[in-house]
Amino acid sequence: MSKPLPLRLGVNVDHVATLRNARAGARPDPVRAALAAIEAGADGITAHLREDRRHIRDEDMTRLKAEISKPLNFEMAATDDMLRISLATKPHAVCLVPERREELTTEGGLDVAGQHNVLKPFIARLNDAGIRVSLFIAADPRQIEMAAKLQAPVIEIHTGAWCDAVVDGHTAKADAEWRRIAEGARLGRAAGLEVHAGHGLDYATAETIAALPEIAELNIGYFMVGEAIFVGLGETVRQMRAAMTRGRSKVEGAA
Ligand code: PXP
Repeated sequence: MSKPLPLRLGVNVDHVATLRNARAGARPDPVRAALAAIEAGADGITAHLREDRRHIRDEDMTRLKAEISKPLNFEMAATDDMLRISLATKPHAVCLVPERREELTTEGGLDVAGQHNVLKPFIARLNDAGIRVSLFIAADPRQIEMAAKLQAPVIEIHTGAWCDAVVDGHTAKADAEWRRIAEGARLGRAAGLEVHAGHGLDYATAETIAALPEIAELNIGYFMVGEAIFVGLGETVRQMRAAMTRGRSKVEGAA
């Protein structure tokens, strides 16, 4: 087998902003968290500007773009308002996600197959602006095929259901979800897409998924912000990188 792709870590700082917003002040500052994560070895920073602005706000995105030295991955819903803001912000990447106001977090993947007519011009506008588009989808062959057809260069596989099943000890469900993810990563790569993964990952699940050679990037937030309370964000990033390296080293052909 050829050498596996290098595996990047994108740190999602949304929940630093959740904590800040709890007291409506300026601290803790998600930009400071992003800088600390980069200092400790993060390859990029992810932030989700939700339509209800429950955590990250417009000015956070502007400051992240201006102040961080690594790529900014701007997560957003496919709306005209978000398209305008992202084109003005000019992040390295945009990850299109489904959004429902009543959800606690992004619960499912984008229905690329069902919404291809709406998404097509959207993806084209971002591609034309030189912004790398990623589609956050379930590891479903129909969604993966349509992502490739729409010329999105990247898919991010939703790992939430797998991670929940692992944490809850639902072994049969975890195994089934894992097989879908592994097959989806293989299919995505075979279709010429760059494959990312994220949602609900912790040290153990990040180590497991790092052993899939097709995956190029993991985006991780909630668990890391929680761990940072106990050991600090820098140490959390270092431990996460170590877990990913352990997982990657299991791939045949890894250095
Ligand atoms: N990737 C995407 C597309 C997401 O929407 C999220 C959650 O905002 C994540 C990764 C990170 O998930 P978590 O915060 O559970 O690690």
